Amino acid sequence: MAIAPRMPLPNVAPKSLEQFVSDLTIGLSNPGQKELPSKYLYDEIGSALFDVICLLPEYGLSRAGMRLLRRYSGDIVERLPERVMVAELGSGSGQKTRWVLEALARRQRVSYYPIDISRSALYRCEMELSHMELVSIVGFERAYIEGLREVAARRREGEAMLVLFLGSTIGNFDRPAGDQFLRDVRSVLRAGDALLLATDLEKPVSELLAAYDDAAGVTAAFNKNLLARINRELGGDFDLAHFEHVARWDESERRVEMHLRSTTWQCITIREAGYRFCLREGETIWTESSHKYDPQEVTGMGDRTGYRCHGQWLDTEWPLAQSLFFAA
Ligand code: AVI
Repeated sequence: MAIAPRMPLPNVAPKSLEQFVSDLTIGLSNPGQKELPSKYLYDEIGSALFDVICLLPEYGLSRAGMRLLRRYSGDIVERLPERVMVAELGSGSGQKTRWVLEALARRQRVSYYPIDISRSALYRCEMELSHMELVSIVGFERAYIEGLREVAARRREGEAMLVLFLGSTIGNFDRPAGDQFLRDVRSVLRAGDALLLATDLEKPVSELLAAYDDAAGVTAAFNKNLLARINRELGGDFDLAHFEHVARWDESERRVEMHLRSTTWQCITIREAGYRFCLREGETIWTESSHKYDPQEVTGMGDRTGYRCHGQWLDTEWPLAQSLFFAA
């Protein structure tokens, strides 16, 4: 069924195929570990596969985030200034956000601005949330910080901003880049604005590896779709049968890494990029890192990037933290 676009998308950004080509050739030309940026996992197919990942019994992260917001959105909202507008970095499916918006809508009209580079994610979010009373939605098809600046420019006199970053996507940055990202968000905020940040916490390695290499092979398909996407969009000739999905725990960095391992010696041509490269048998392309934290580490991240933590809620079933920061 075709979904009619209904949400207003102001100033839609042009597709950045050149950026894709440039990121890809840089990452695959690395003399050491070849890599591809994880943001390219999320085309329409990748986003749909990610939604399925969130349903897998092995992957408890999204359910934990949802549980915490279902239980504690009331407490969280009580700590916020009187009038707030809401910006969300990465609209996801909108399911988690519903709890926060509902809690806010009990006391005020809410302007909600999801920001996502994926137009289909914005539509899905709008489908999920559009019928909420007292909530108006305007999506921004933008990179996070750029979108946040535009949203901040829309704030009304006396209105504070609540920024939601709910999917533990901060974990997909390495730690220094995660700090820098929090600083970049802070640079858009005013003192007293709030940030609600989800961070996945450390847990037994066997659980983590199962979460990123599930029995049904959905995460493997999600990972391999990146190569399929390059074939579709850039005329690549990756043969997916010659790659296997690998999930590894890096103990010193405290992160799960996803790789695509070449099962044979092979050369690949990416026509639209005018680029050819070869892989040895066993060589991998690193496609994603997912860092895991401890709760104090998260408050520390806030302290050194311009925030103060005003509350932290932990899920016990699947260790994950929702932390409420105020811009200092
Ligand atoms: C979006 N992000 C927080 C997910 C994660 O857990 O790092 C992406 C993901 N990759 C594989 N499974 C889920």
